[in-house]
Amino acid sequence: MTFVNVEDYHQQAIENWPGVVTAYIDGGSGTEATLRRNREAIADWQLRQRVLTGHKPTALTTRLFGHDISMPIILSPTGFQMVVHPSGELAVSRAAAAMGTVMIVSAAATASLEEVSAAAPGGHRWFQIGLFRDRGIIQDMVQRAEAAGYRALVPMVDTPILARREAEVRAGFGLPPDLIWANLIPYNTGTMAGGTPGQSALSDYIGALWDPEFTWKDIEWLCGLTRLPIVMKGVLDADDAQLALDAGCQGVILSNHGGRQLDCTMAALDVLPEVADRVGSSMTVLIDGGIRYGTDVLKALALGASAACIGRPYLWGLGAAGEEGVLGVLEILRDQLLEAMTLSGCGDVNQIDPSVVRKTRT
Ligand SMILES: Cc1cc2nc3c(=O)[nH]c(=O)nc-3n(C[C@H](O)[C@H](O)[C@H](O)COP(=O)(O)O)c2cc1C
Repeated sequence: MTFVNVEDYHQQAIENWPGVVTAYIDGGSGTEATLRRNREAIADWQLRQRVLTGHKPTALTTRLFGHDISMPIILSPTGFQMVVHPSGELAVSRAAAAMGTVMIVSAAATASLEEVSAAAPGGHRWFQIGLFRDRGIIQDMVQRAEAAGYRALVPMVDTPILARREAEVRAGFGLPPDLIWANLIPYNTGTMAGGTPGQSALSDYIGALWDPEFTWKDIEWLCGLTRLPIVMKGVLDADDAQLALDAGCQGVILSNHGGRQLDCTMAALDVLPEVADRVGSSMTVLIDGGIRYGTDVLKALALGASAACIGRPYLWGLGAAGEEGVLGVLEILRDQLLEAMTLSGCGDVNQIDPSVVRKTRT
């Protein structure tokens, strides 16, 4: 198969996967209105074509929390990547490092955070922390992430409970017996049951581990545990972004979890302008959800994001062709971004501003 765009990788991945994996990766919660909104919100903005500017963008280098990365496209955390391809998180770690960009490693990884780090020494990695009931697990994971060279911690705050992803429930997603939630091995949390149609084993297991009563006080406590920057993932409201800043966070990822949590909510792009306006000068604002083309990244940068994150696209690359597929997806998005910048007259990725976009609909 010839891979010309991200969707080509998606189609190949679907061919490779059993239906239960496609249900886990592609599904959204409830009516999937949020999932659809992610693409609609991006389509609500148009790029201005500017000519004869003489600008030819050559570098996309972006500075995040004191480190230069090669482009403003980074990898959102996604759980259980060895379900997607046997090389899982290790392949993603190598591909992200080869591309010089950040991999945010999920707490729910099928390789331990130390193994993911050892797979690609020198790579830029952040670690996503879950809101575990047992604060001792959080404390220990923070120390392990620091020791393994992770450069930021990403508490995932949009998942106090796991929303019902109907396709996943119907297909009965669970971890195959040969895979494990590797980061939890030291903590004796039991194992996730296998899948049975009509029941998500993931949802049951997480229900027992997660604390739905986590609050801003706990985030303050988390910020006090480490000197690493805390980047809160799953914010969709300017007041919450302000609260994150007040609690000590240095960044937010505006996200609805790829349409997998609150159904019928907004897209990151819907709230990005007001969040950027409110806290953009004091903290780093990132977004995710529905990014499939370089033009989507350009719109996010224009509306105030420092970088855009992708979830499913690199899982599709992984499912289609392993490490090569993840590299292929990242290269396509990078090249599309450069093309869009050239054709809209943007020379420098760090100087993209709202004048690049215009709202199509209100
Ligand atoms: C299969 C899958 C697993 C995910 N697992 C996690 C996770 O473990 N932690 C987390 O913070 N977000 C998780 N997410 C959400 C992603 O980090 C991200 O917010 C979302 O995928 C972005 O939308 P996109 O898939 O449209 O790019 C997951 C998403 C998918 C599709």
